[in-house]
Amino acid sequence: MKKIGYAIALAIVSSLGGAMAQNVNILPAPEQLVTDNGSYTLNSGAGIYVDNKLQRNVAETFISDYRGFSGVNLEMTGKKGASIRLVTDKTMEPEAYRLKVDSDGITIVAGAENGFFYALQSLRLAAGVEHKDEIPFMEISDSPRFEYRGLMLDVSRFFMPKEDVMKVIDCMSMLKLNKLHLHLTDDNGWRLEIKKYPKLTEVGAWRVNRKQELFCDRRNPLPGEPTPIGGFYTQEDMKEIIAHAQKRCVEIIPEIDMPAHSNAALAAYPHLACPTVDKFIGVLPGLGGANADIIYCAGNEEVFSFLQGIVDEVAELFPSKYIHLGGDEAWKTHWEKCPKCQARMKEEGITHVEELQGYFMARMSKYVQSKGKTVMGWDELTNSTIPEGAIIYGWQGMGNAALKAAKLGHKFIMTPARLLYLIRYQGPQWFEPTTYFGNNTLKDIYMYEPVQSSWEEGYENLLMGIQGSMWTEFCNSTQDVTYQIFPRLAAVADVAWTTKGKKDWVGFVKSLDKYLYHLDAKGVIYSEAMYNIQHKCSAENGVLNLQLECERPDVVVRYTIDGTEPDSNSEIYSDFLTVKNECTVKSATFVNNRKMGKTLTLDLGWNKATAKKVISKNITDKLLTNGVRGSLKQSDFEWTEWYTKDESSFVVDLEEANTIDKVVIGCLTNYGMGVHKPSSISIDLSEDGKNYTCVAERKFSKDEIFKEGNYIENITFDFEKCDKVRYIRVRATDAGMNPENHLRPGQQSRYRFDEIMVF
Ligand code: ACM
Ligand code: ZN
Repeated sequence: MKKIGYAIALAIVSSLGGAMAQNVNILPAPEQLVTDNGSYTLNSGAGIYVDNKLQRNVAETFISDYRGFSGVNLEMTGKKGASIRLVTDKTMEPEAYRLKVDSDGITIVAGAENGFFYALQSLRLAAGVEHKDEIPFMEISDSPRFEYRGLMLDVSRFFMPKEDVMKVIDCMSMLKLNKLHLHLTDDNGWRLEIKKYPKLTEVGAWRVNRKQELFCDRRNPLPGEPTPIGGFYTQEDMKEIIAHAQKRCVEIIPEIDMPAHSNAALAAYPHLACPTVDKFIGVLPGLGGANADIIYCAGNEEVFSFLQGIVDEVAELFPSKYIHLGGDEAWKTHWEKCPKCQARMKEEGITHVEELQGYFMARMSKYVQSKGKTVMGWDELTNSTIPEGAIIYGWQGMGNAALKAAKLGHKFIMTPARLLYLIRYQGPQWFEPTTYFGNNTLKDIYMYEPVQSSWEEGYENLLMGIQGSMWTEFCNSTQDVTYQIFPRLAAVADVAWTTKGKKDWVGFVKSLDKYLYHLDAKGVIYSEAMYNIQHKCSAENGVLNLQLECERPDVVVRYTIDGTEPDSNSEIYSDFLTVKNECTVKSATFVNNRKMGKTLTLDLGWNKATAKKVISKNITDKLLTNGVRGSLKQSDFEWTEWYTKDESSFVVDLEEANTIDKVVIGCLTNYGMGVHKPSSISIDLSEDGKNYTCVAERKFSKDEIFKEGNYIENITFDFEKCDKVRYIRVRATDAGMNPENHLRPGQQSRYRFDEIMVF
């Protein structure tokens, strides 16, 4: 948003010999950075000169952080000739800074605490790796692109202990991120002490132990089951977190989600649900199935006084001017039939339940505003009248629903699920812990440009910034969470801070390595998925073309085809491999002859259909004859999905007449994601591609189809030997809706095949 005077930048460029300069890698990339040869050594006992209290606060935090990293003990001093000098320039924007390192020492100029803090983070990241006390000669002038640079942490699905939240704050603040949005309440746990309603944490913070199952497979609790899993922050804990964050220029934004995602609160106070709910309400350990529909009753006055009581304490506790009221994914099945909700609609002249949510959110928003705070909410708030002044987070798909709010003049933040949801896979899925949906790789995030050319004039000015959102459904430990967050948060920070149009993937990766060194020093677990290989194997004219790709630009891919582990002497992969018969390809990435990522093992099978053409409307059907079997990850790019109410079919062209007596189809069951067998599969054979004869058919009962679990079946069709077969047609019919007792009740079921094998 803000720019430091250009004249200053030019002066910097001309004052130092750029051609001779060494590389300095700082994340996020500074607006202007000029380096020179040489470095300044910060010995123990070196002083930091400060001349006011704000500078002193920042310097104290830095002294402790720098000591933790380098072992060097810096000292605060009143001597103007100190090694590090902090100088206030009130004309500068609060987050901007200038930093100069030369043989005279280190001078930092900023207008406020934030600017000094960010300068010191740049200093920290620029320090040597071998010699952590050496700061390279350089001159920086820097300021952020966006005012909102955020991380959302879902502490409801996984309750992260206070100390670990603080460590995440340390790691995000090093990246100059400045907002931590805490998702404090959801169906799976209420995480904040509210003194007026103690049951919220006595009951709502605890759930049954279903850790052995994946989140999406977990069954709802039964009444009376023990609830040992959970935890919550007392208000004193939260004050500590807030104070820790404040020292690192991070603002904590609390989210109290309503009217949905409220099973934990309603487990504690069930009378606040619609009276039409006739089931036991418990804190959900997983997805919740039909119970996810249990939300606050919009017709019950006590719901509003209850939520207002909560807002009273939240507004008092959090210094942030924002309170996030959620508003996402409210299924209105009960509101449709609840007499109280219906009476409310009548009374308010509301004709659609969606507007009833508008009423609910507007009423709560007014209350929040009466406390002097600004309301934030998810983009579902644009489905009805948006509360006045509310700031909207665009999350669904590419986040574009937020633009509806922008059109009406609302400020907004982009956290599109398709790019900035850190719950999604960060690399080749075969190596990753199971999670939801597709990939948001480090590079995908780094390449994100939030401002689109299609935007109407004015939208850009309303965009406050971006946020990486970490939902913790699949996490059972802090390590599981940080593994998903890092290193991708560094890419989020770069998008949020760095000047538009200044993307440099190779440079980013170098700077990232420096940052990871700091995570190592802090013992923070992060992913190395960026070193893993994503294969693409496609059938082309009777052979398989195998591509092996790694998103790190600085690695060499080596491979073997004799089943041995690739090492630094193995063949180097360059373009693509042509495979003509059964083999095992093993590949891995290397830097300076050191193996980096995990070994990718591809067992390429071969049968009469392998590498043959598939004729179909569905382009991913090409995968069906590529010789590579799918994994249990339903979105690993090896499964072809049908999500349709109609019969579907595809044809394999064997390209010449063959004698065959068996067809095998690989079929996935992934209960949690609603992937099941179709209700029937038929195999038709033809010589000419026009006249087909059905030779085999399998039909499956509902019990066989809607089984729980995650497994792959080879569905086999044996039949009398047939000659002169060139075309094989596979027809399948869907299994209809998932049944009522399913964890995804009433949703259209889907089926997925990985391979058709012909013998
Ligand atoms: C959301 O992902 N439900 C905001
Ligand atoms: Zn109701």
